[in-house]
Amino acid sequence: MTVDPIAPGASRDPRFFVGRTQPTERAISWLLSGKDIALTDPRRLGKTYWLRVLALRTTEFEVVMIDYEGVTTAEEFLLRTAAALRDFQGLSKTARERLRIMFSGFELAAGPVTLSAAAGTQSPNKLLADTIAAVEAHAARPLVIAMDEVPIAIQSIVVSESAESAREVLMTLRSMRQRTERIRWIVAGSVGFHHVLRMAAVTEGALNDLEVLTLGPLTEPECDELAHRLFAGIRRRPAPKAAETLSRISSGIPFIMHRIVAGLQASGATGDVTPAQIDGALAAFISDRDESRSVTHLVTRLDELYKELTPLAESVLSYLAVDNKAKRMVDIGEALTPNPADLRRVIDDPRDDHYLRLLPSGLLEWRYDVLRRIWIERMYLGTP
Ligand SMILES: Nc1ncnc2c1ncn2[C@@H]1O[C@H](COP(=O)(O)OP(=O)(O)O)[C@@H](O)[C@H]1O
Ligand SMILES: [Mg+2]
Repeated sequence: MTVDPIAPGASRDPRFFVGRTQPTERAISWLLSGKDIALTDPRRLGKTYWLRVLALRTTEFEVVMIDYEGVTTAEEFLLRTAAALRDFQGLSKTARERLRIMFSGFELAAGPVTLSAAAGTQSPNKLLADTIAAVEAHAARPLVIAMDEVPIAIQSIVVSESAESAREVLMTLRSMRQRTERIRWIVAGSVGFHHVLRMAAVTEGALNDLEVLTLGPLTEPECDELAHRLFAGIRRRPAPKAAETLSRISSGIPFIMHRIVAGLQASGATGDVTPAQIDGALAAFISDRDESRSVTHLVTRLDELYKELTPLAESVLSYLAVDNKAKRMVDIGEALTPNPADLRRVIDDPRDDHYLRLLPSGLLEWRYDVLRRIWIERMYLGTP
């Protein structure tokens, strides 16, 4: 059997994309039936990569991807949207002409897009709605607008402008989703939406029209494929159980599989890759603070999200992390004696953020064991 190699690294080349068959099928069938999607797996689970590959491979729609990272105001949100539409090859000539009137720089191939004089003093949200209306009216084919890093942008708008301004953006997006028939929407980002709804003082209504799609870990056969292709990418063969070990200790997170194999490559070892070498490469990844920061940002920067509940959130995560056992809610309550409403909040949120999960038996545990191990290391809780 020949294996198509994948070099470990941060590539988002579609040739090196593995798996995600089930979520892709589910997403396409939802979109075709007129549903819009929220995608909020933790950082580095592969959301952006998946969106890019979806945009390239889907034949049912044209997909335009918009990255809102770094946006801090409602106006920037609008201009980022306009800039992405300018770069979008599938935009019709008529829509392009309409948008040229509203935005300067729209006729250029690059450089900033700004508001034109004709946009006058209209609010950014009104202009955003007009922009989308122009695109929809002249779309040649059904369109999916995939908005990436939306929660972080909303959070930044709360901080730089106001909760009011963030709320207006959210409500504008919601009414655009309701109004458009030929455009479907994917709203993605690594910060759970419930956090930003709370910050913007908006009810669930702002987002509860979205179907939640979960990528989660790669499935076993998908992990197996990625493992073998990564080993081929560093020109080493797996010893027995090596692929299985790599999949298991990465908790099926493709980014971590990549990092471990990059570590094996950097070690300079030769010969078949053994399970012990894989364990060693993961331990090195975890103890390298810079390396593993990228997957733990959200777990370790709880203060931004939990504010005064941060100490309790930390205690709960630590309590669930040690001794690697799922635990009952009552035991957590007895061990930490919190206010019950606070306890529910610091469990609900990490569950919605996909860090914790509730088993059918009623026990709670960390969803990704590798993140639990990183937490143990970061919080100096001893050995995993
Ligand atoms: N399906 C996949 N196949 C192969 N590698 C993947 C896959 N998904 C993610 N990765 C790896 O993980 C990295 C992070 O993915 P990314 O899309 O940036 O995550 P997110 O947007 O969720 O933070 C990618 O650069 C790639 O190396
Ligand atoms: Mg991303």
